Amino acid sequence: MSVVPDTYERIELASPETIRGFDLRRLPDAFYENPFPFYHRMRRDTPVRRMPDGSILLTRHADLDRIYRDTKTFSSDKKIEFKPKFGDSLLYEHHTTSLVFSDPPLHTRVRRAIVGALAPRALKPLEPQVERIVDSLIADIEPGSEFDAVEQFAIHLPIEIISDLLCVPRNEREPLRGWSLAILGALEPEIPKEKFEWGNRAVEEFLVYLKELVARRRAEMTPSDDDILSRLIRDVDAEDGLMHEELLHSCIFILNAGHETTTNLIASGVNMLCDMPETTAMLNDDPSLWPVAIEEILRLESPNQLGNRRAVEAFEIDGERFDAGTQITLCIGAANRDPAVFENPDSFRLDRGRFTHFAFAGGPHLCAGMTVARIEGRIALSKIFSAFPHLRRTRPAVRSRRARFRGFDHLPMRALA
Ligand code: HEM
Repeated sequence: MSVVPDTYERIELASPETIRGFDLRRLPDAFYENPFPFYHRMRRDTPVRRMPDGSILLTRHADLDRIYRDTKTFSSDKKIEFKPKFGDSLLYEHHTTSLVFSDPPLHTRVRRAIVGALAPRALKPLEPQVERIVDSLIADIEPGSEFDAVEQFAIHLPIEIISDLLCVPRNEREPLRGWSLAILGALEPEIPKEKFEWGNRAVEEFLVYLKELVARRRAEMTPSDDDILSRLIRDVDAEDGLMHEELLHSCIFILNAGHETTTNLIASGVNMLCDMPETTAMLNDDPSLWPVAIEEILRLESPNQLGNRRAVEAFEIDGERFDAGTQITLCIGAANRDPAVFENPDSFRLDRGRFTHFAFAGGPHLCAGMTVARIEGRIALSKIFSAFPHLRRTRPAVRSRRARFRGFDHLPMRALA
């Protein structure tokens, strides 16, 4: 197979002055547009970067790998970290009760209850359903017309699929995206008061809705039902199982985790590939290359750019000692472009062979929904580029102003066949 030309954007290093005083809580505008020059400079010069609040930011692939694996030293529990930010609010209750921000035993119990429903074998029947939804979205795009690839394409599939997996009836899905954006938005390193209030209100409304949904599902479900919600309800009923509140917060988390990130995978794929006609032609000629292309999109434009852990014991990196209690930000976006692991890390290549990126994190918290995300990304992108091989941007894309979740608000495109 020939090597794909180096067509994806070339990244310059940010100057040392630009990153002097770099603070995740006070990010410069340029960072939201393109954080990679900042990441490259920090990974090269200060890979263990102290933030003004005493936390550290890690940018090397090897450091993330170590921390994801060592769950004895590095905890995912956010009860201490989120207290000053969220106080006694519902946002605090939510973000400290869902599986992603917890350690065993809660993490083990919830994960065990849901992984079966998200395993590749269980998800085989999902593919025709994904294809149907994508076909109908594409049928609504008039050839030659201008359309918004976020609003009219990328946001719809993930929300439909995750709602199906959690048995949310079709006519009740409308508020989910707004709730989800409000709750995830509150996870940004620094949030204004109105974002906090918006997030809190969203958790409150989500909980009211879910209580009712769970009651209905409990009344309707049969012992052979295998969907995520029925599995979680059965776990609540089991001895030593989940508590009702844990079930509700896990549902909120899964609904949130399952769509915003996947929306951004699809939108980033459209945004990247519309600038790479040779690669798109190659993918259309040989669709078996799509899974590799999806991994490159995930690596280069990781929808989740930042993760966090807290050290529960003292530890060392590069001979420097850090105390127990140190808060750590794991920079997925930087690790996924680490030249120590990826040759020409900023270029999009279909011939990288086997590689490990951290778009889905690593270790015991490895994304439980990655098979769903990969199926959706592959089917959505292969179908839209097959229908419109010459998709072109008509105006500059509008990025969502978020550091943790990278993606777009708007992506104006012309549908050229
Ligand atoms: C491109 C799309 C996606 C990306 C980039 C992504 C990324 C991630 C990352 C980075 C984590 C680990 C966070 C951490 O421990 O610090 C995670 C966890 C998780 N994700 Fe995803 N995710 C995606 C799609 C999905 C989907 C579609 C679902 C559900 C169907 C899902 C469900 C979960 C769950 C349940 C966890 C928690 C796993 C655990 O803590 O054991 N994700 N995801």
